Amino acid sequence: MIRINVNGKALDFDLPPDTPLLWALRDTAGLTNNKYGYGMGLCGACSVLLNGTSIRSCSTPLSAVGSGKITTIEGLDDKVGQALQTAWRKLDVSQCGYCQSGQLISASALLRRKKNPSDADIDAALAGNLCRCATYVRIRAAVKDAAKSLA
Ligand code: FES
Repeated sequence: MIRINVNGKALDFDLPPDTPLLWALRDTAGLTNNKYGYGMGLCGACSVLLNGTSIRSCSTPLSAVGSGKITTIEGLDDKVGQALQTAWRKLDVSQCGYCQSGQLISASALLRRKKNPSDADIDAALAGNLCRCATYVRIRAAVKDAAKSLA
């Protein structure tokens, strides 16, 4: 049995230690907003926060979480998370939506460490989060809008 902290709650998983965190979250915990893309950490659709840093849950073994705190999009409800989600809605960022949970997770990691990010900061922080609908311009605008509302 592996116990990890997810969105502020201790959850137990009766799974092999090398089970990808993504499957534990989606299939066992029912947190299905983390999406499967390639399963190799290539697209960022599965992004979650580990102690405030964006990681790829598809290529992170469950056993690697240890005593760290995982935050999924379902638990992204602090000031930063709310500001981002408000900006996302205001600027109608999503298209198909598949990548957007991961985009929000990585954007939240950025705003936690940089209060007023430049275009280059945003592009660098979200470089690992691909959007096949090419919403990058709206994502950048929404991150800036959220940063402004938090200032
Ligand atoms: S909104 Fe469709 S992949 Fe990003």
